[in-house]
Amino acid sequence: MDSHIPSPPTRRLSMGERENAIDRTIPLLPPAEEIDEFNYFDNNDPPEYLESLIHGAQEFVKFHKNDRVVLVTSGGTTVPLENQTVRFIDNFSAGTRGATSAEYFLEHGYAVIFLHRQFSLLPYSRHYSHSTNCFLDFMEEKNSKVIVDPIYQEEMLMVLRKYQHAKDHNLLLLLPFTTINQYLHTLRALSVTLRPLKSRALFYLAAAVSDFFVPLHRIPEHKIQSKAGGSKLVMNLDPVPKFLHRLVDKWAPGAMIVSFKLETDSSILLSKARQALERYSHQLVVGNLLQTRKREVVFVEPGKTELWIRLTPAQEAAGVDIESLIIPAIVERHDIWINKSKNSA
Ligand code: PMT
Repeated sequence: MDSHIPSPPTRRLSMGERENAIDRTIPLLPPAEEIDEFNYFDNNDPPEYLESLIHGAQEFVKFHKNDRVVLVTSGGTTVPLENQTVRFIDNFSAGTRGATSAEYFLEHGYAVIFLHRQFSLLPYSRHYSHSTNCFLDFMEEKNSKVIVDPIYQEEMLMVLRKYQHAKDHNLLLLLPFTTINQYLHTLRALSVTLRPLKSRALFYLAAAVSDFFVPLHRIPEHKIQSKAGGSKLVMNLDPVPKFLHRLVDKWAPGAMIVSFKLETDSSILLSKARQALERYSHQLVVGNLLQTRKREVVFVEPGKTELWIRLTPAQEAAGVDIESLIIPAIVERHDIWINKSKNSA
């Protein structure tokens, strides 16, 4: 062996440390109470645009006062590390679940408020905006004019018609957020806006919400400087209060609430989904695994055994969206919810 070849540097992170990086024996954070709500919202300012955004939502709800309205949340939330943000923590969500679901809700006669991470996928345009589906690949040049490639004409015409129908009938309201703070303020304000609809309001919370954040009083104003000598950046993040309980109980009483549970370990998915249902007392948790989320989900509901919704291999091969199976099953449950609420009024 050549004695001049330097030996590889010693690894500083042993497998033991990696295994223990997250202590899963720590009990779950309790659901947020009123005091947590005041603490959070009093100490973390609302976005400046919130008032005008909510004004638009109020107009939309007035317009649809006799209809069913679903609030779909979609995409990931960012956690800024600086007030004048250069760096932030993010997550994987592209907003596929939310954008696709919104289309199927529209097909089922719902008006949709689409609260989405800015620049994540949008209903209808998602078919042509993904990086592997560049819109330019659907075009061609003919006689110095840009036209849609004939092989995509039929499919694009269908998407365009649906999109224009939603626009012409004021059925889709697009509201953006970027940070976890913007998301939480907007979610709370929208919940209040939807209250007049009572049981006709449906919450479909598919956004991947950050679990940790830097509170306003600790966030540095300017870009964090790296120092000579390779000093570490140690982050001190607070847990984001679990507001789902407040949403169910106080912000949107009467509405039907569907939350999502994402896991990567299949052995804990069902127990975590059941736990969420018990802690927040809402109507439905849709469980999904990161690896299989596009082909199977599980419905966990109070007093019922779980129900798996799966694409068949033939459906998968044909490119069927799993949301085309999820949404009708949710609409069925929303029908029952509305009827129950009428009977108990
Ligand atoms: O966008 P895609 O790539 O298509 O991926 C879709 C998805 C996997 C992100 C989606 O299907 C999904 O599972 N979304 C929820 C993922 C999640 O992060 O769940 P959670 O365990 O952090 O939160 C559970 C529920 O509580 C969610 O409905 C969330 O909106 C809500 N929540 C979360 C945190 C918090 N502080 N308050 C909340 O109310």
